[in-house]
Formats: sequence, structure tokens, C-alpha cells
Amino acid sequence: MVQFLGFLVLTFGAAFASHWSYDNQTVWPELCNSGTRQSPINIQTSSTKQTYLLPFIFTGYSERFFANVTNTGHTVKINLQNNGKVPTVERGGLPGTYALDSVHFHWNSEHTINGYRYPAELHAVHYNVQYGNLDNATIRENGLAVFSILFEISSDDDKYFSPIMKVIEKVDNTVGMTAQTNESFSPDIFFPRDTSGYYRYIGSLTTPDCNEGVIWTLFTNTLHISESQVSYFTSMWSETGLLTENYRTQQPINGRPVYEKISPLPKVITIVTSNASKVAYIKLLMLFSIIYLYLK
Ligand SMILES: *[C@@H]1O[C@H](CO)[C@@H](O)[C@H](O)[C@H]1NC(C)=O
Ligand SMILES: *[C@@H]1O[C@H](CO)[C@@H](O)[C@H](O)[C@H]1NC(C)=O
Ligand SMILES: *[C@@H]1O[C@H](CO)[C@@H](O)[C@H](O)[C@H]1NC(C)=O
Ligand SMILES: *[C@@H]1O[C@H](CO)[C@@H](O)[C@H](O)[C@H]1NC(C)=O
Ligand SMILES: *[C@@H]1O[C@H](CO)[C@@H](O)[C@H](O)[C@H]1NC(C)=O
Repeated sequence: MVQFLGFLVLTFGAAFASHWSYDNQTVWPELCNSGTRQSPINIQTSSTKQTYLLPFIFTGYSERFFANVTNTGHTVKINLQNNGKVPTVERGGLPGTYALDSVHFHWNSEHTINGYRYPAELHAVHYNVQYGNLDNATIRENGLAVFSILFEISSDDDKYFSPIMKVIEKVDNTVGMTAQTNESFSPDIFFPRDTSGYYRYIGSLTTPDCNEGVIWTLFTNTLHISESQVSYFTSMWSETGLLTENYRTQQPINGRPVYEKISPLPKVITIVTSNASKVAYIKLLMLFSIIYLYLK
């Protein structure tokens, strides 16, 4: 009998790994409900703590890759066919080097800023290279670093996303289906051009098993996509019907600090007093910004 129950628990546990649903988040596994450092959260910009962290160093994000695009039943997931050349990121307050595992989307956004929910949010999931792979890193404190990019709606398509959108159309109808992009693209299309401003807090995965100790980075700069591109997401099927939205309910902050790394430009200007030197200073800063963006 005990063995039989054990069998039931194991089978249910295994089944739950893929059969959870956004319709009923109260029955997600234990840590999702008992955890104290869960994600997503609302970021109240008036209560963030300013911090001075070094800029990120992104390596290999401008290389071109083909990719697999999968309908997981909960999101659309993108895995680069990286042939061992995995893009990595370091600095920016990260305690090590983190490798890009995959990218997926939420619609609407999971994080909100001052209560505002964006139409979509991208998560670029990275694991600490010291743990070798995603699974091993997931169970470690600081094992994962997830970069979040919020989307705003514009009248134009984001043309860089079109190789991916074309494939999403092919997997939309079938849970578990994977298709490959016919065009290569570079993963820097997933990031805003200026990554120097961001929010930072420690949270969790936003899907079961909701593992904690995840380092979150939310860029203050957004990306822009069109309504029709968002409709590629909202016409995706899950096991129980159309996946019209896939965001987790907001989690309590429980006193966790949320840090903000602001772009240094506006702060520096305030220390300049005379008008003439102010103008000279702004010109100099603009020159540096151009050089900085060009070198990126
Ligand atoms: C969620 O699941 C619980 C337990 O299975 C059930 O009692 C409840 O009715 C469900 N709620 C919804 C909204 O489906
Ligand atoms: C991409 O999909 C193919 C076919 O399903 C598979 O053989 C390959 O391992 C996948 N590659 C990645 C990086 O997921
Ligand atoms: C993952 O962890 C297991 C168990 O500790 C270990 O045997 C394996 O080598 C690790 N994988 C990588 C890629 O480091
Ligand atoms: C990729 O190219 C093949 C062959 O030309 C075609 O059948 C397929 O539909 C294309 N896939 C996408 C996603 O455009
Ligand atoms: C500096 O510029 C402001 C307006 O931008 C003007 O009101 C002020 O008089 C100027 N000060 C000097 C010292 O020129």
C-alpha cells in the first residue's frame, strides 16, 4: 500500500512537471505557496534603492544562430543551436559568469512597474557556468540569472523578431511541437540597445517548481512590438485551450530590497553649475554615449 502510494506520488509529481496550469495557481507545488522570495513582483519605483554596479559584459550575443522554437503548452521557448558557443554575461553585480540557456515569453507581463502591466515580457534564462547546466544550477542559490525585458506596443513590427514569429505560427497549434528558424539571428535582438539601466532583486522562477535564489534583472528600457506580433502569442494553444495569457499572480515582496541601477548620465549633469560648462559637459556626454552605443 505504501509502495502504491509512493508510486502515485511519483507519477503525480512527474506528471505535474508539465500538467500545471495558469487557471489554477493555488494548487502549484509547495514552494510556490510557502516560499518567501517568490516572483513576479510589482516594482514600486519610489521605494527602490539606488545602487552603483558595473555595466554588464555580454559575450557572443551578436553572433548569429539558428534556433528551435517550441510550444511548451505554457509559453513559446527559444533554444539557440549554439554548437557549443554559448553566449555568456558577467559583471552587473552577478557573482560569476552566466550562460544563456533559453528565452521565453509571457503575455501579459508578469512583473509590473508601479502597478502597470505591460502587454508582454521576455525572460532570457541564464545559468551560472560553475554548475555546468540549467538543471544543476536551478537548485543552487544564485544558480540562475533571469533577464527580463518588458514590451510596449508600437504601430510597427519589431522586424528583428520576424524569423521567430514565422516559426511560432508553425507550432502554435500543437503542445510539445518544435520547429526551427529558417533564418539565423543574433540573441542581442532580445535586449534593449542600452542595458545600463535596470532593477535588481532576488526572487524565484515564475513557474513550478518556483525555485528560489534567482537573480532578477529587469531592464528599464523596453522593446517595442506590434499588436499583430503579440497576437502570435495569444493564438497559441495549451493542453486546456487557447493560451490567451500566461502570467503568474503577483507575489509578496516580504521586505526584499529592490535595487535600481540608473544610467549615470542625468546624475552627472546635476553636479555642473555654470551654464557654459554645462553645455560643454552635455556635448561630451553625448559624444561618449555615441561611442558607447557604437562599440556595443
Ligand atoms: C483549483 O484546484 C482545486 C483543487 O484541485 C479545486 O478545489 C478548485 O476548485 C480549483 N479552482 C479552479 C478555479 O479551477
Ligand atoms: C533542436 O531540435 C532538433 C530536432 O527536434 C533536436 O535534434 C536538437 O537537439 C534541438 N536543438 C536544441 C538546441 O534544442
Ligand atoms: C550535474 O550534477 C551532477 C550530479 O552532481 C553531476 O554528476 C554532473 O556532472 C553535473 N553536470 C554538469 C554539466 O556539470
Ligand atoms: C523553412 O523552409 C522550408 C523549406 O523551404 C519550408 O517548408 C518551411 O515552411 C520554412 N519554415 C518557416 C518557419 O518559414
Ligand atoms: C543659465 O541658464 C538659465 C536658463 O537655462 C538662465 O535662467 C540663467 O540666467 C543662466 N545663468 C547664467 C549665469 O548665465
